[in-house]
Amino acid sequence: MACFFRRRIAAKLGRTLQQPEEVFIPALSAVPLFKKQKTADFKLSINTLRANGVLPSGGDIQLQTENLASQLKQDSVVEDVSADRGTIHFTLNRKLFVQKMLEPFEKHGEDVTFGLDSELFDNLKRGTTLVEYSSPNIAKKFHAGHLRSTIIGNFIANLKQSLGNNVIRMNYLGDWGMQFGLLGAGFGRFGCPEKLKQNPLQHLFEVYVQVNKEAEHSEVVKQAARHFFRQLEQHESEAVSLWQRFRDITVSEYQHVYKRLGVHFDIYSGESEHQAQAQETVQQLRSRGLLKTSEKGTGVVDLSPDGDMSSICTLLRSDGTTLYITRDLAAAADRKQKYHFDEMIYVTDKSQANHFHQLFQILLAMGHSWAESCQHVPFGLVQGMKTRTGEVVFLEDVLNEARARMLHNMSQSKTTKELDDPEDTAEKVAISALIVQDFKGPLQSDYKFDWDKMLQAQGDTGVFLQYTHARLCSLIRRNEGIDAATFDPSLLLERTSVTILQHLLRYDEVLYQSAQDLQPKHLVNFLLKLCHLIASAHRELPVRGSPQEVAQARLRLFSGACSVLASGMRILGITPVHKM
Ligand code: ARG
Repeated sequence: MACFFRRRIAAKLGRTLQQPEEVFIPALSAVPLFKKQKTADFKLSINTLRANGVLPSGGDIQLQTENLASQLKQDSVVEDVSADRGTIHFTLNRKLFVQKMLEPFEKHGEDVTFGLDSELFDNLKRGTTLVEYSSPNIAKKFHAGHLRSTIIGNFIANLKQSLGNNVIRMNYLGDWGMQFGLLGAGFGRFGCPEKLKQNPLQHLFEVYVQVNKEAEHSEVVKQAARHFFRQLEQHESEAVSLWQRFRDITVSEYQHVYKRLGVHFDIYSGESEHQAQAQETVQQLRSRGLLKTSEKGTGVVDLSPDGDMSSICTLLRSDGTTLYITRDLAAAADRKQKYHFDEMIYVTDKSQANHFHQLFQILLAMGHSWAESCQHVPFGLVQGMKTRTGEVVFLEDVLNEARARMLHNMSQSKTTKELDDPEDTAEKVAISALIVQDFKGPLQSDYKFDWDKMLQAQGDTGVFLQYTHARLCSLIRRNEGIDAATFDPSLLLERTSVTILQHLLRYDEVLYQSAQDLQPKHLVNFLLKLCHLIASAHRELPVRGSPQEVAQARLRLFSGACSVLASGMRILGITPVHKM
């Protein structure tokens, strides 16, 4: 939508300053809406042009701005040019603006593409992106951090995909380590094949908690656990097949719950996969002279800048077994070889920031220069994620609670009775609420989980997004008889419509911004603002009772706004509902 105008203005500048038009693209942006109304649509930053060497950087910037502005004459696209402290403002021809902005929405449908400006996104395109997220640990709790990782990783994957990257979605399970020794030993004592079938996650968790408690004061149990884990590491078939059963059951349970959340993975990998490779990695480090033996007999890498062992990272225990980071080193190299990613993104809470920092440092020291294109996206802690029955242990608990609460709220409204599947709608709306609560602020911040606040229908919530989308869909359904394929742009020149279109003009820049810092807040706040504008439009631009052509034009506007809203919601990981 925006690219047509961005191009035209860039071309105009190119002609005036005798430079290729591309150089102006990064300096041009849609004017954001602030409290006070605005008239201009695009602005050009003179500072950016100075920084890029397009304009000389000496001299009076105000003069330079005015001078350039005065050379830019009106034409059929640009209606007005004005200069103001280092910025040139462009107002587009009103009718052309309305027409071009609504052009992509000739047919109301789901998968409209909005012509994202490839020039604008040029420096982002990075081929294959591997995103690793969720990554829970078998037989342990699925805590709020795993939930955050799941929805944030899904957002990043969706965003990258919508920008044309080839995306690989990976779940890296905690499926190895002493916990399986305990679980194996514990299953023999407390395990029940029946329960394992009926409620696998619950049962594995119970067994694990029980055996852990026992192991605290029983040397026999500890020994049994060590014995079982050793058998696993030596690929003893009985142990391996029990472990495999635990893993398979867990994955298939998770797949089911992820589906409710609208999340999927291309690959379920895990720490177990990189056992042998982890030992090889250690050998490589040793042969490069990077692995030192500490006084305690552990294998360490010296990461201190002065080589004085003031900052070390342990890769081998004194008994020769590998650690979490050793497996991560092997896993990273293995992924590079298998998937040839151009960038890899890990999503975990910020307590693991140092882990990833060290991981990338060691990879670089090993000569893996591709580690430069690996990135950790950290997020803050969530406090107080509880259900009515207490602490959250499983992802399913959160989803059930969210759905039940939303269903209760919805039962107050009369339209709920007309829904085909109220539970399904309630779940989608509740998930939207969960996501928006989580994505509104910077990911790094901690926040307090608040069911009541996040499920409010008014205010900046995911319920409000869904409500706005459903209301637009209902408007479009009720007016199916009106053909909005053709419309007269001059019937959409009042403030309310132009404001919505000016907001939509920013959509690709907002995606660009989110792709740059991988923060969903830009997109969330853009969509919330859009919903507020749509609410005013419902009041001020009625369709029913308006003359045919006016109704047609307004429907076209609502339909375009609805498409952008739906598209943005999907990138966030929300499934827009059509009724609620
Ligand atoms: N399973 C880990 C945990 O629950 C997260 C794994 C993160 N990914 C990684 N490659 N280390 O803390």
